[in-house]
Amino acid sequence: MINNRKTAIIGCGFVGASTAFSLMHQGLFSELVLIDVNEEKAKGEAMDLSHGRPYVDTSKIYAGTYDDVADCGLIIITAGANQKPDETRLDLVHKNVSIFKSIIPEITKRNSEGILLVVANPVDILTYVTLKLSGFPKNRVFGSGTVLDSARFQYLLSEHLEVDSGSIQAFIIGEHGDSELAVWSDTNVSGIGINEFCEMRGHFDHEKSMKRIFDDVRNSAYEIIEKKGATYYGVAIAVSHIAESIIRNKNSILPVSSLLSGEYGLSDLCLSVPTIVNKNGAEQVIEIDLNSKESNLLNKSAGQLKEILSSLDL
Ligand code: 2OP
Repeated sequence: MINNRKTAIIGCGFVGASTAFSLMHQGLFSELVLIDVNEEKAKGEAMDLSHGRPYVDTSKIYAGTYDDVADCGLIIITAGANQKPDETRLDLVHKNVSIFKSIIPEITKRNSEGILLVVANPVDILTYVTLKLSGFPKNRVFGSGTVLDSARFQYLLSEHLEVDSGSIQAFIIGEHGDSELAVWSDTNVSGIGINEFCEMRGHFDHEKSMKRIFDDVRNSAYEIIEKKGATYYGVAIAVSHIAESIIRNKNSILPVSSLLSGEYGLSDLCLSVPTIVNKNGAEQVIEIDLNSKESNLLNKSAGQLKEILSSLDL
């Protein structure tokens, strides 16, 4: 029997541990199990986190083995090598595909009904690999995708416009990586088109601001890795936000990475576009209107991912 209030995090590096920390503050789960090849590391993280339990209304947190995933409703996979300075997310592909080839069968041998949420990079490729290795239906295998990038985009726009980021609708779509794109044509603040809103706030040099903001979004991870070696808090909060949509069955529209089957004219690859997320996972891809420049960029992003997928032996 699946327990929807039980979650496993596979991989207890910076991203896995920060995700556990963030999930614990949401009080969404009754059990959180941490699994890592380095069992001592998982035990240490679980002990450290558990000591906060009296002060947050939360779950049991413990280090476990793959046997503990058998009844998990949600399995979050953060395991894998991280980007080093000067590496792209795509440079990690071969190392992490081979790690996933050992992890995914360990999960699916024991659990065939949970949701698999992939966070490790390159997330779009690893989501596709997970889908193929698991044989799970496509709604139950998806990646954190550009949920973090879209948050970075909303945050930078909110700073620029001095307006609450919650009032800004803005998506980054495509690869979670260098070929991603901003959907400027659909970006709005409380329904007011972005250019009009910029002018209301005294900004008139649209091209220059758009370029600066998008470059900052796309380069955020590189900049953070350069300064502190890794990114983890932002992605951990993004993952918690996705987990909340699943557990509370919120039907949130989030740019997660899932299998496309004809939407946007693309198929047989995973990338991020707005998607309804609820208790069934990535339930439905939403096709928003893109202008021709955005469509071309999305096709290019898909082309790059396809090229990598075709080089993999799955
Ligand atoms: C990030 O965007 C590296 O994918 C990670 O922060």
